[in-house]
Parts: sequence; structure tokens; C-alpha cells
Amino acid sequence: MNIFEALRQSHEKQRKLADQLLQTSGNTAERSNLFELLKNELFAHAVGEDRYLYIPLMMTDSGLNITRHALAEHHKMDELLEQLSATEFSNPGWLSIAKKLAETVHHHLQEEEHGFFQQAGKILTAEQKSSLAQQYLSEYQKYKKADKDSLV
Ligand SMILES: [Fe+2]
Ligand SMILES: [Fe+2]
Repeated sequence: MNIFEALRQSHEKQRKLADQLLQTSGNTAERSNLFELLKNELFAHAVGEDRYLYIPLMMTDSGLNITRHALAEHHKMDELLEQLSATEFSNPGWLSIAKKLAETVHHHLQEEEHGFFQQAGKILTAEQKSSLAQQYLSEYQKYKKADKDSLV
């Protein structure tokens, strides 16, 4: 498996969880469970992706711009997650923040899969792509709490 295939596995989970979250309402166990799952999925993925895709890319001249752009989007998602965590599930404004988060997630994944990963593919060697995949996956597993009782 190469690093891009490994990253895409989590992207599919993120898309599904973000969409499911928008179907929830009010102060319900469903909303709270899905939010925890999405938050953990985004977190575990971003830690591994920052460390084992973007940091190595950042060390190259041609990878610097995509890395800055991607890390800024990770930061934006973190801010929206924080806003959601600080808002009561029963607050009528919760869903509109969740929509903003879901749009940001979809936009970011699209940009990675159709832009950043292609550019990164030209910068990294085949050997790097496979060793980074192993390192990413072990980091991702380390931060992923929800596998056992995951709803997806
Ligand atoms: Fe990603
Ligand atoms: Fe990302």
C-alpha cells in the first residue's frame, strides 16, 4: 500500500461521518456519538497525515506551497471542531456550524485527492510512499479510539 491509498481509507470514513452528522438533530445520543466519531477520525488522520505526508513534503522546495495550504485547512477544521465542542447540541446554531465543517471537510478531501496527492506523487519516491504508509497507519491507529464501537 502507498501513502495515498492509506490516507484515502480514512477520507471515506470522514465523508460518511460528516454526512451522517448533518442528519442528526438536537441533544441526542446519535448526534453526540457521531460527533465523537468524526472528531476522533479527523484528529487521528490529521496527526498521521501532518507527520508522514506534509512534514516530509515541506522539506522539499516544490512541496512547500501545497503543505502550507493543506495545513491551513487542517487548522480551519480544528477551529470548527472547537466551536462545535463549545456549543450545546440543543443549540439551533449547532447544525449550521456542522454544515460549515462538513463543507470544509469535503472541499479539503477533494483538493487532496485531486491536487495535492498528485503533486506529492511526483515529489516522493516509490520507497518513501510505501514506508510513509506504514508509519502513517501506525500513528493513525495509535490515536484512533473508536474502532471497536464504531457506527460505520
Ligand atoms: Fe487527508
Ligand atoms: Fe488533510
